[in-house]
Amino acid sequence: MLTRRILLMLLGLGACIPASAAFAGEAAVDRVLIFGASGRIGRHIVDEALHRGYTVTGVSRDPSRLEDYADRIQVVTADILDRERVAELVDASDAVIVAIGGVPRSQDPAQYIAATAAESLIEVLQTFGDTGPRLIFVGSLFTLKFEDGKSLLELGRVPQDHENYAMFHGHQIALDRFRATDDVNWTVASPPNGLRLEGRTGKVRWGDDTLLRDPDGTPSGISREDFAFAIFEELAAGNYIRKRFNVAR
Ligand SMILES: NC(=O)c1ccc[n+]([C@@H]2O[C@H](COP(=O)([O-])OP(=O)(O)OC[C@H]3O[C@@H](n4cnc5c(N)ncnc54)[C@H](OP(=O)(O)O)[C@@H]3O)[C@@H](O)[C@H]2O)c1
Repeated sequence: MLTRRILLMLLGLGACIPASAAFAGEAAVDRVLIFGASGRIGRHIVDEALHRGYTVTGVSRDPSRLEDYADRIQVVTADILDRERVAELVDASDAVIVAIGGVPRSQDPAQYIAATAAESLIEVLQTFGDTGPRLIFVGSLFTLKFEDGKSLLELGRVPQDHENYAMFHGHQIALDRFRATDDVNWTVASPPNGLRLEGRTGKVRWGDDTLLRDPDGTPSGISREDFAFAIFEELAAGNYIRKRFNVAR
């Protein structure tokens, strides 16, 4: 298999272009690795990647969940916390997109999968150095600035006994961990107000850390299809490297 490390070495031998430049834009990205490919958001990310002609590897802990994609993508089995396996898959990829989630198994936010996965991915991607692939990680709206420059978490609008308390705080831990990392090409993508709309329009508005709102002040929405569209627009544009964005219709 032509791994990323071997490819970069060969490009390096070609000399005139810096190896990292070969992976800077969408045209150079071909192989996209998608964690959470079987999930509600991940399936739309897979669809958008296929629509754009990428070569897709979809990850699941149970590949039967991706049976319906088997003739269109490479389906692989992996747990995102298995660093050795993740490194192997990353090495065969030009970009990594992560939309993992699930019901918290513990009340401890540090144990929520978003937090533990962020740690695993950062540790793996750090081993690739400056030429490592870009990572786009799906985050949570609860970490966006909602009012007075504060998130719903900071405003205390998520009670501790909320069933998803660990999930929302786990996402905050993940975001903080990414923000403390300057040697990985990470991006966190937060939907603004859930994913309540439907359909792909290909027309989106972009924001950074502050929740996007409609003209009447209502928190904006987006469809899963347009959210996936935005992820690939950002992959091509590179406007939010080591930043978080939110995006709305
Ligand atoms: N749905 C929404 O409206 C919404 C809104 C805002 C933010 N988000 C965030 O977006 C993310 C994805 O949400 P979703 O609704 O699409 O999730 P979902 O439908 O529950 O899917 C979760 C995905 O995570 C994967 N996964 C879980 N643990 C894993 C592990 N240890 N290793 C590898 N893969 C693992 C699962 O893969 P397998 O089970 O196949 O292995 C599955 O594909 C979550 O972090 C969520 O908080 C969701």
